[in-house]
Amino acid sequence: MPRFHIQTFGCQMNVHDSRRIEEVLYERGYQAASGPESADLIVLNTCSVREKADHKLLSMVGTFRDLKEQNHDLVIAVAGCMAQQQGEALLDRLDLVDVVIGPDNIPDLPGLVQHVQDGGPPVARTVFDLDSPSFLTARVRPGQREVSAFVTVMKGCDERCTYCIVPYTRGAERYRAADEIVAECATLCAGGVREITLLGQTVNSWHEPSEPSASESRFPELLRRIARELPQLLRLRYTSPHPRHVTSALVQAHAELDMLPAHVHLPLQSGSDRILRLMLRRYRSADYLARARALMSARPGFTLSTDMIVGFPGETETDFQDTLALVREVGFCAVFAFKYSPRPHTPALRLGDDICEELKSERLARLFELVDELQSKHLQSLVGSTAEVLVEGPSKTNAARWTGRSERHEIVHVDLSAAHEPSGTRDLRDYAGELLRVRVIEANKRSLLAVPMGTMPQPARRLPARKQVVRLPLMSP
Ligand code: SAH
Ligand code: SF4
Ligand code: F3S
Repeated sequence: MPRFHIQTFGCQMNVHDSRRIEEVLYERGYQAASGPESADLIVLNTCSVREKADHKLLSMVGTFRDLKEQNHDLVIAVAGCMAQQQGEALLDRLDLVDVVIGPDNIPDLPGLVQHVQDGGPPVARTVFDLDSPSFLTARVRPGQREVSAFVTVMKGCDERCTYCIVPYTRGAERYRAADEIVAECATLCAGGVREITLLGQTVNSWHEPSEPSASESRFPELLRRIARELPQLLRLRYTSPHPRHVTSALVQAHAELDMLPAHVHLPLQSGSDRILRLMLRRYRSADYLARARALMSARPGFTLSTDMIVGFPGETETDFQDTLALVREVGFCAVFAFKYSPRPHTPALRLGDDICEELKSERLARLFELVDELQSKHLQSLVGSTAEVLVEGPSKTNAARWTGRSERHEIVHVDLSAAHEPSGTRDLRDYAGELLRVRVIEANKRSLLAVPMGTMPQPARRLPARKQVVRLPLMSP
């Protein structure tokens, strides 16, 4: 039986795609290898969002040279955004690569591998399914307990953020019908999934594929429908929303649907209006702040995390100060920050890359310093409070602890060493997938430590809904 090994880089779309690659291979009789050394097929599912990713691929492929020399039948495939971006050129650049496959061509992978194994030349397939988009269905791994799963609601991106290569690597926006999305969520729930994350590059721009793209987002209606039809689902998350599609209807959904967590990851990128304009983000800092405040009004303790870029072309110290000020004002609980990296095909290339590496590093360090301060203040403020933890699995470092996420998305380790069955015997229950009500007793650098409320872990109560939320002003032109 042939064996495969997949290595995944990049974002959650790629994590999701890797699972689909795995399924396509299982269907063709493959099984998972214990590592690259015992694999007949190595798949590198790549990211292209920053230049570093490029270098990573080169060095990674290089490490397989010995394996390829020992086993001439070994096939190396490059999938994901780098594959889509470079296509056939990647075969010329990397002599060890046999197959290049784009994100929309995953079902073709086994056939292309077979073609190479039958003596065919290296091959690239990177065709977008623009005319009849298909969405690979997420499934639970047979026989496994999976607490969380992703469900794609749209793919591609029609925004043109000037720094970003994603519209080029993932193509134009294509939307998935609500019936299909809800059916997939239902199948996952029936398979034991307790938390679903809806996926899309601008996930909250979702509308039915039959509706024109210019129509207002129907995303809040989609959330309501999933909540209504699948009341057994414990949590419904989504990533990544775009600030310009954060509407009053979405805020209201957060206030009313207790399945939505009290947290959203809402990419900001910069706090300077001048830079936001150059990035073509299509909002100003005041628009973002209004949306952040509205979301925070939807639930007590609501938190926001974000993505930021430092060192965008022409970013002055004043622009960067604006970024620091906005990050402080919003009070993000977590920030993923990156140094600007010029990418092929992006409009920002025309602006040059005038912020030197040293200054980018310095700004990144200053931003992280602020983020660490905000994060530690936030985590400390939770000590003594109660939280609802959706347990994901046993702790990797302590046998008496289980790890999960709070309703706000903090990582929480729950110490169950004091938990006993009513008979007094030690509690050996599998808590994965359970929602526990806990009391936070300690804040670590990036996580919380908690104990169950009472002597026995209790199922959590749902948060009360809030009916009155902040109304959003219109976006500035
Ligand atoms: N669709 C999502 C995420 C896109 S890529 C969104 O719109 O938010 C993930 C993150 O990578 C972005 O949010 C951005 O912060 C970062 N990123 C994208 N292009 C980049 C570039 N050229 N240089 C540095 N960071 C970049
Ligand atoms: Fe890239 Fe902007 Fe699209 Fe996000 S919204 S994928 S940052 S172009
Ligand atoms: Fe994701 Fe990287 Fe592609 S962030 S969409 S894998 S470029």
